[in-house]
Amino acid sequence: MAEVVIVPDARAAGALVADAIARVIEVRPDTVLGLATGSTPLPVYEALRGRLAGTDLSLVRGFALDEYVGIDPAHPQSYRSVISREVVDPLGLDPARVHVPDGSPEGIEHAGADYEAAIEAAGGVDLQILGIGTDGHIGFNEPGSSFASVTRVKTLTEQTRRDNARFFASIDDVPMHCITQGLGTILRARHLVLLAFGEGKAAAVAAAVEGPLSASSPGSAIQLHPHATVVLDEAAATDLALADYYRYAYANKPAWQRL
Ligand code: F6R
Repeated sequence: MAEVVIVPDARAAGALVADAIARVIEVRPDTVLGLATGSTPLPVYEALRGRLAGTDLSLVRGFALDEYVGIDPAHPQSYRSVISREVVDPLGLDPARVHVPDGSPEGIEHAGADYEAAIEAAGGVDLQILGIGTDGHIGFNEPGSSFASVTRVKTLTEQTRRDNARFFASIDDVPMHCITQGLGTILRARHLVLLAFGEGKAAAVAAAVEGPLSASSPGSAIQLHPHATVVLDEAAATDLALADYYRYAYANKPAWQRL
């Protein structure tokens, strides 16, 4: 089972996860980070700016989880732009070392296999940051995605397009298709850190952490991972049956055991 850590707010979650990332980079300067987009990871990226100030990040590598298909890479909401704006530029990472799946229609049929090969050539992802959709997706693995899936094109659900319409002028501007790391790809990362904030995520979080393993609940794939950490605010933890146990276990965590 994943370790569940319930913190007061998103800011505290950001500081906690940024600290875990910084410690990985201290040990391994060429750490491979798995980068999520959307609103959820922003407090982590914000906290990393302070936590990593003065650290040599020239060797750090990164792989984004997903990208919209057919979006202009220069569009402010393309995940390439978001990763540049929120991660690469503020942290001063080497842009050549940070990869985003190629969502351009030309060559899309082999873009997934190319991305899988690039992750493998990098030696795999050390720490994967994840958010979760209100419909339970991680990456853009919508309900029904195979636990063995690899990077490929998916059709976004109406619910995901509605949720993401806030980043665009209207829902009609939200792309219909994406290219996303598969659940099988995500499960190969050495440490998964899933964050969720707000009541709107409570049901998806409970299904992922405590529900049955099911392709209908893609987030439940994290239960198969030997090192998964779930960091939540109180609102996102509302539907967890074992919330008191998670609090108790974290409060009594042995000092030598880290996130
Ligand atoms: C983003 C991603 C998605 C988001 C999810 C939650 O790269 O893969 O799984 O993490 O849609 O989005 P937010 O954080 O905007 O609520």
